[in-house]
Amino acid sequence: MSTIREPVVIHKGLDNVYVKESKICYIDGEASKLFYRGYSIEELASHSTFEETSYLLIYGWLPTESQLDQFTGKLESYRVIEPRLLDLLRKLPPKSDPMDVLRTAVSALGVYDPQPATDDLDARIDKALAILAKVPTIITAFQRLRTGSDPIPPKGHMTQAGEFLYMLTGHEPDPHDVHVMDVALILHAEHEMNASTFACTVTASTLADMYSVITSGIGTLRGPLHGGANEAALRTVLDVGDPSNADSYVVDALTHKKRIMGFGHRVYKTWDPRYLILKKLGEELAVKKGQTKLFDTALAIETSARKHLEGTPIFPNVDSYSGIVFHMLGIETDLFTPIFVMSRISGWTAHTIEYLEANRLIRPKALYVGKIGLPYPPIESRSGKPQE
Ligand SMILES: CC(C)(COP(=O)(O)OP(=O)(O)OC[C@H]1O[C@@H](n2cnc3c(N)ncnc32)[C@H](O)[C@@H]1OP(=O)(O)O)[C@@H](O)C(=O)NCCC(=O)NCCS
Repeated sequence: MSTIREPVVIHKGLDNVYVKESKICYIDGEASKLFYRGYSIEELASHSTFEETSYLLIYGWLPTESQLDQFTGKLESYRVIEPRLLDLLRKLPPKSDPMDVLRTAVSALGVYDPQPATDDLDARIDKALAILAKVPTIITAFQRLRTGSDPIPPKGHMTQAGEFLYMLTGHEPDPHDVHVMDVALILHAEHEMNASTFACTVTASTLADMYSVITSGIGTLRGPLHGGANEAALRTVLDVGDPSNADSYVVDALTHKKRIMGFGHRVYKTWDPRYLILKKLGEELAVKKGQTKLFDTALAIETSARKHLEGTPIFPNVDSYSGIVFHMLGIETDLFTPIFVMSRISGWTAHTIEYLEANRLIRPKALYVGKIGLPYPPIESRSGKPQE
């Protein structure tokens, strides 16, 4: 029997496929520019806070003082996690990957919500904010449990960045560390129609609840080509160990067609503007924390990679220094991607709500290239191999 073939173009990877109009984020990958709702990432990193940026992304405008107070008050009121969820975290194997734990915990939040589903967009935002506020509590509770300590409840009157660092250690965090963390959260909050945002949008387009939407995003962000790259980039720097080893590492990797983690991007064909901000923060932090060798090793990898990749559009991305920054803040490597979630929920929510304002179920097509009309064979005459 013949195969069905249609005269179509397949967009594997969906490069340059537009799925909606959007007013949330603009990236100029050729000019190293990124804007959230029209404001440049440099302006937001210099003047805004993660809470204010989240408001901007989700509602579309920079909040007034009272709008911001209400918003942060809401996040604060949602931050505590209920005992049932803590019990669940206690029962998970301590060796679990924190991203698996986070995915499970966010999904469980939906089970504990007596009314997880709603068609009302404001109610959807409210549920997303509750998840956003609880994620630092979940991550830090699991981190403490797996290292044999008791979880620490939120202190209150602190930002997402401050609460995270406080609940991790139980100590009042250093204000400069909180600032660095806050900027890192701003930089990771949104990035147009990336893989995890698309996954959230697909799930939302079926009118599934926000717990399912955000769980889809977490599952998609987990992979090493997306959110997991910051962990891989730091591991590379730690393995290389010294600036003098950087060039041989890069040459060896490129000779064996291995990717340098923290390099390359589907959209940026030049410097990722977030990388430039994080590199500066990382340099300052390295001096402050006495970890200049780590920073210098990352710098040597970057310099060597740029030399050997000259003439290609492969430049350092946000992940080349984010892992180093988190490491210098004393955060375990496998918590980096969960931190990304702690920030990106804002962008996922903004896109989900924007899409649902004029929803259409997302249902692309696959071009069938197999056979049709095959006679059904009795079990004893099957080859047990793929069809030719
Ligand atoms: C992010 C990424 C998946 C985007 O890739 P993409 O747009 O799909 O580009 P491709 O995977 O098609 O790569 C195109 C070419 O560049 C090369 N390339 C891409 N990223 C590279 C990297 N980090 N190191 C070395 N070579 C790289 C590929 O090997 C490929 O070369 P080829 O054409 O000779 O086979 C890719 O750059 C990557 O894997 N980077 C490392 C992981 C990372 O840092 N991810 C975080 C993104 S924010």
